[in-house]
Amino acid sequence: NAHPRLKEIIPSLVRHLHDFAREVKLTVGEWEAAVEFLNECGKMSNDRRNETQLLCDILGLESLVDDITSKLLASSASETPSAILGPFYRHNAPLLPNGSSIIQDLDPSVPWYTQAVADSAHVTGRVLSSSGEPIKGAIVDVWHAAPNGLYEQQDEAQPDMNFRGRFMTDAEGRYSFYALRPVSYPIPDDGPSGRLLKLLDRHPYRPGHIHFIVSAPGFRTLTTQLYDDRDHYVTNDAVFAVKDELIVKFVPKEGDPKALWLLEYDFVLGRK
Ligand code: DHB
Ligand code: FE
Repeated sequence: NAHPRLKEIIPSLVRHLHDFAREVKLTVGEWEAAVEFLNECGKMSNDRRNETQLLCDILGLESLVDDITSKLLASSASETPSAILGPFYRHNAPLLPNGSSIIQDLDPSVPWYTQAVADSAHVTGRVLSSSGEPIKGAIVDVWHAAPNGLYEQQDEAQPDMNFRGRFMTDAEGRYSFYALRPVSYPIPDDGPSGRLLKLLDRHPYRPGHIHFIVSAPGFRTLTTQLYDDRDHYVTNDAVFAVKDELIVKFVPKEGDPKALWLLEYDFVLGRK
């Protein structure tokens, strides 16, 4: 029982691999080093760290397949573009009322307190269908890194589920929460992928971003990221995931004791 899709993919992979090896005149020693490198990535990978995925990411492969997949499925150009999930998503973030904060430990004793206050942000907008109707009862699942560049599960000092939350849109399709303007940070670079980046004179930074998974019954789930336009790395992402439509502007917010910045963004979902 042959597998039709594999019978299409593998001969093409072989053709491109052979062309590649001929083009760079790959030697036995170099091929052996590559096999050893892949073995090392596999050995290092577990539930908390996926080094093989990270390798694909710094080669731009996860972003490319994400883009190919979303273009295959999209039925309208108005749909919000997708972006990669990344390795730090957690299921079951707290379901919070609109208008609440995903910051659990903004307390003057944390070393980055001053920066966090300066970056406090109200994030709000609507979830819409591609014909522009508000979607009520959509779930907006968000997560971002702390100002020290670490996601909560990478950092013992942060409370469980810090900077994570889920919000349900109201009758106008609106979601609303308080968070921080995200900062740039290095992808985990203490393994073989990080070593490769250094050998290539490449940096490991991703531009500051907020992750979103937006879902609603009858619509295709959207996994995406929004990038802060102030960030230097927005044009130089280590994993090539930035798309122009996902670069956003935080504007100063007046009269809100909980936030100095406002980000308004509408997500557009495609029907299933
Ligand atoms: C990667 C993606 C992320 O969103 C992130 O926060 C860290 C790493 C990645 O593609 O490897
Ligand atoms: Fe991320």
